[in-house]
Amino acid sequence: MRTDRTFTMLKPDSVEKGYIGAILEKITGAGFKIVAMKLTQMTQSDAETFYAVHNERPFFGELVEYMTRGPIVAAVLEKENAVQDFRTLIGATNPADAAEGTIRKMYAASMGENAVHGSDSDENAEIESQFHFAGREIF
Ligand code: CMP
Repeated sequence: MRTDRTFTMLKPDSVEKGYIGAILEKITGAGFKIVAMKLTQMTQSDAETFYAVHNERPFFGELVEYMTRGPIVAAVLEKENAVQDFRTLIGATNPADAAEGTIRKMYAASMGENAVHGSDSDENAEIESQFHFAGREIF
């Protein structure tokens, strides 16, 4: 299992507010190399599958609605210790708890609309990357 890759999405709120460039600059400025990237939109079935682990949670319907309402930027990022370092860069799930200078502190509006996704393990980074990208789209 690789430990130098993670998967991210700039969620619909980030795209709607015009934050793509600023967030990508934070990501590459922190030493992550973009090895796959696209603007895409999740279908209801995509979002239900991607977030299946949360399907019993009270916020599941809201989460699927949010993640399907407009385009996202999906990307695979490469850096030593990628999963952990990226989670540090994006900050806590709830922007109110996120550290100063983190992407969620700077760009997220709320716990539900929290601007960016970051994989929580090397295994999920691989699964999520393959969910969004064909092998030939990852460099
Ligand atoms: P993330 O951690 O990337 O993946 C699960 C998402 O569910 C999370 O970001 C939020 O967008 C959303 N989420 C988590 N907890 C809540 C909550 N309590 N209320 C609404 N949305 C939530």
